[in-house]
Amino acid sequence: MRLLRPRPDVSLVLALAAVVLLLLSSTSLPSCPGPEMGPEEPQEVPTWSPLPARAAPAPCRANLSMAQHPDFAALPAHVRDFLLYRHCRDFALLQEPPAAKCARPVFLLLAIKSSPANYGRRQVLRVTWARERQVHGAPLRRLFLVGSDRDQRQARKFNRLLELEARAYGDILQWDFHDSFFNLTLKQVLFLEWQRTHCPNASFVLSGDDDVFAHTDNMVTYLQDHDPDSHLFVGHLIQNVGPIRVPWSKYFVPKLVSEDEHYPPYCGGGGFLLSRFTVAALRGAARVLPVFPIDDVFLGMCLQQQGLAPAWHDGVRTAGVHSPSPRLSSFDPCFYRGLLLVHRFLPFEIVLMWDALSRPQLVCGKQGRVY
Ligand SMILES: *[C@@H]1O[C@H](CO)[C@@H](O)[C@H](O)[C@H]1NC(C)=O
Ligand SMILES: *[C@@H]1O[C@H](CO)[C@@H](O)[C@H](O)[C@H]1NC(C)=O
Ligand SMILES: *[C@@H]1O[C@H](CO)[C@@H](O)[C@H](O)[C@H]1NC(C)=O
Repeated sequence: MRLLRPRPDVSLVLALAAVVLLLLSSTSLPSCPGPEMGPEEPQEVPTWSPLPARAAPAPCRANLSMAQHPDFAALPAHVRDFLLYRHCRDFALLQEPPAAKCARPVFLLLAIKSSPANYGRRQVLRVTWARERQVHGAPLRRLFLVGSDRDQRQARKFNRLLELEARAYGDILQWDFHDSFFNLTLKQVLFLEWQRTHCPNASFVLSGDDDVFAHTDNMVTYLQDHDPDSHLFVGHLIQNVGPIRVPWSKYFVPKLVSEDEHYPPYCGGGGFLLSRFTVAALRGAARVLPVFPIDDVFLGMCLQQQGLAPAWHDGVRTAGVHSPSPRLSSFDPCFYRGLLLVHRFLPFEIVLMWDALSRPQLVCGKQGRVY
């Protein structure tokens, strides 16, 4: 019998060297030009430092009295989980952006919900629509809102990845709670609280998903006509709907969570814009309302509690865009020129659209078909 003895060979060494090179170069991705280049922000190397050791909040205990209810056991696992931990709102911060993020006036703060594993999407947004820059003189800042992976071993990997991202880009806000669909409201609530002490003066906030295409230049143009100290909450308005009571739906909400058959008007969570006045109002309401598992509906509840209403903006298409004519591609940049936000784009599509819209010679009309 021959023993196969492992010995370092040339190809292994080369492979290792390649990995090291890749790691080194990944922190300095080339940046794409934006639709409006604007003066390039002086690239501040974020001064990352580990968070000061604070007493971690005591682990939140499950509300076991919930489990006594006769309907409880038959509910899907994620709904049971939600009910048991609904009251928990105190979670340790794992990563936070440097204080420089909001040291100077911020016009538009991009608060992008992302999951730990969505590294590729974050990388694409960093060099496209969420690039930190000035648009028409208005400073844009970027933050990714992230939780932790449910699986302990995965969490260790992702927490390290997010630490590396925080160091390299200074745009990670991460808490120690399970990043799941029914915990998105918790993410919103924790962001509202963080923002009160760390970035209260941002005039406007875009709250959005990491799989949308946001025309941030158009957003600035639109917002420059608005007063940050009066109410603004615009997006894809959804009205006259209520909870879905079929257990296999992603949006299933049983009566044990809410008896109400109607939702207040709200804006689709893919992306919406709000003023700092409205951010403060939402924060006030979020403190007194019980958490509702669907985050965009919850914000509709908060608005209603404050006597405010969400509004429609025709440029926000969280249900996608339909080409007005079958002869035209619905990927034609000319459709997107006038829009604010479109759901959902693949990462490569975001790169292509950003590139197309940034061409100064983009011609729209019969002669100028790009895709
Ligand atoms: C636990 O659940 C019960 C309902 O079963 C509720 O009345 C109580 O307020 C909950 N406790 C907490 C701490 O949320
Ligand atoms: C939300 O996060 C908390 C803390 O990690 C966890 O205990 C709970 O199960 C999560 N809830 C859902 C619905 O995932
Ligand atoms: C935020 O604005 C308030 C009043 O408008 C001002 O007193 C405060 O210094 C500002 N904070 C920062 C960090 O700019």
